[in-house]
Amino acid sequence: MSSAEHTVFISSATGYQGLALSKKLREMDWNVHATTRDLSSPAAVTLKEIGVQLKEADWDNLDVLRESIKGCDKLWLCLLPDWDDPTRERRQCANMLDIAKEAGVKQVIASTTLGVSQLDANVRVYPGSFMEKHMLNKKAVETSVEERGFEHFTFLRPTFFMANFLEPKVKRYDEIRDHRSWTTSMTAETQLPILDHHDIARFAVVAFQDPAKFHGRKIGLASDQMGIQEMLSMLAEAADQPGSIKAHFLTDEEIEAQAQGSGFANTHKVLRTASDYIDFDELRAIVPSLTSFKEFLEREKETVKRTFPHRNE
Ligand SMILES: NC(=O)c1ccc[n+]([C@@H]2O[C@H](COP(=O)([O-])OP(=O)(O)OC[C@H]3O[C@@H](n4cnc5c(N)ncnc54)[C@H](OP(=O)(O)O)[C@@H]3O)[C@@H](O)[C@H]2O)c1
Repeated sequence: MSSAEHTVFISSATGYQGLALSKKLREMDWNVHATTRDLSSPAAVTLKEIGVQLKEADWDNLDVLRESIKGCDKLWLCLLPDWDDPTRERRQCANMLDIAKEAGVKQVIASTTLGVSQLDANVRVYPGSFMEKHMLNKKAVETSVEERGFEHFTFLRPTFFMANFLEPKVKRYDEIRDHRSWTTSMTAETQLPILDHHDIARFAVVAFQDPAKFHGRKIGLASDQMGIQEMLSMLAEAADQPGSIKAHFLTDEEIEAQAQGSGFANTHKVLRTASDYIDFDELRAIVPSLTSFKEFLEREKETVKRTFPHRNE
């Protein structure tokens, strides 16, 4: 089969992972199909310009999903949590997979979260917390793929994105942007694996090109790893304000007091051991040159400056 014969449906094509992957696949001359809820967004315009077949629809619009997945032999499954409706992600997943199966899709690569590796190892997250529900939903996505009997499937499990430190994703961590501090339930000793979303696309391309080799594999993804203060210091340095961003490590008592809250401070306790679920030797055997945090900050330097303007600007 020549490469041009492959057609991939990319979910979340306008998102960080999906856009990076769509660009790489189009560079390889593969066909890319996708949907967006807004054809006029900058990312949608970019996708149109690079030749992605893009339709305007929500994933709840099954007719448009059917039209868009028709003729695809591969599926990139990256869905979004809906914090107001925790069942929506599973529903959208089931619909997308059923449509893909009907359409004759042979290979599915699902991007879930490293949290699934921790769930598999029985690492406890606060029972009932939104983080626990989030991880259970991602596990359910993987189970749904396995149950449908696609010829080939692979699960990529991303760790914490480097892009979380920058606009627009930094809104979840606005303390870092607004107060130049990060209050976290990780510790001064925690080595946090972090990931460049461009590297996710690189792993996906390798797996799409060799379905049999990657069939059934569950791969925790990271690009780099370091201590929290070291990470924040590199960020401050890149923003040309050395030493300006400080980590604040919660005590176990403080974490317990927040245990039922909805923020990330308490639930990030699971990230203390995230590095146990990353095998950098395995990752480098697949993608030899992973992006370091320094390289990421250099590439994204305009966004770094926009996210962390000098205080007097
Ligand atoms: N940030 C992290 O550290 C991290 C780590 C591990 C895993 N993850 C997971 O990564 C996923 C997010 O990936 P990302 O950051 O690449 O995406 P993103 O940049 O947040 O983009 C969101 C995408 O989802 C699409 N979308 C959302 N709701 C939709 C709906 N109802 N119907 C159709 N399209 C919809 C958006 O499309 P339009 O707006 O164009 O319609 C857009 O393409 C999440 O599931 C998250 O849990 C994140």
